[in-house]
Amino acid sequence: MKTITRRLGPAQWDTWYREGRAVDRSVTDAEADRFLRHVSLSAGSSVLDVGCGLGSFSRQFFRWGHNVLELEISPAAVEIAQRRGTQERLRYGVHDFDASAVPTTLQSGSFDLNVCRNVLPFLDHQRFMVDARRRLRPGGQLYVLVRVWSERGGEPDDKPWQRGFTEEEVQDLQNGWAEQERCWLGRHTALFVSDERRRTD
Ligand SMILES: C[S@@+](CC[C@H](N)C(=O)[O-])C[C@H]1O[C@@H](n2cnc3c(N)ncnc32)[C@H](O)[C@@H]1O
Repeated sequence: MKTITRRLGPAQWDTWYREGRAVDRSVTDAEADRFLRHVSLSAGSSVLDVGCGLGSFSRQFFRWGHNVLELEISPAAVEIAQRRGTQERLRYGVHDFDASAVPTTLQSGSFDLNVCRNVLPFLDHQRFMVDARRRLRPGGQLYVLVRVWSERGGEPDDKPWQRGFTEEEVQDLQNGWAEQERCWLGRHTALFVSDERRRTD
């Protein structure tokens, strides 16, 4: 393991996606099961997938009838994801969530669900958590999947596209949310947070 000091820009991610590295984590049955237990979405909900990679998680929402916006820092990942299918309710775009300019597609209060799978350790996550809350509609949820390492800044030498948080950092993410649910998926933790009690309709 080594200490992380550098931010990874779009060119680095593009290289890994073009080389076909296993950057994008597939959705296991266990994750899908936990997700469906903790997230309630009514038909036609609006979902934002942050750092969507090749978009395998998001395409599932599309199949379930939701409106999905997938945003990524890597133009190569977006290009590959688009080749796998674009529809009116399934949109892709290039966006850096650390950038100061916020596109009009990310208006306040416009999403029922923010998905953030294995992305937060690459972002200014404190800023991200503030922005994510602002983007959610009342009752909206944020889903975070992140690998948990005992060591701060852990990153495997051979897989720099895998980063994690310490347990303490995960607990920081939970601060200030009215509703929080958490479960383990192997070495990953899944976190579901919301400012309001989940809708049951
Ligand atoms: C480990 S991959 C996870 C991909 C996907 N979310 C998944 O579940 O497998 C991290 C992703 O975050 C994207 N990413 C990293 N920094 C970003 C940023 N500042 N803004 C948007 N996306 C970013 C990378 O391009 C990459 O696709």
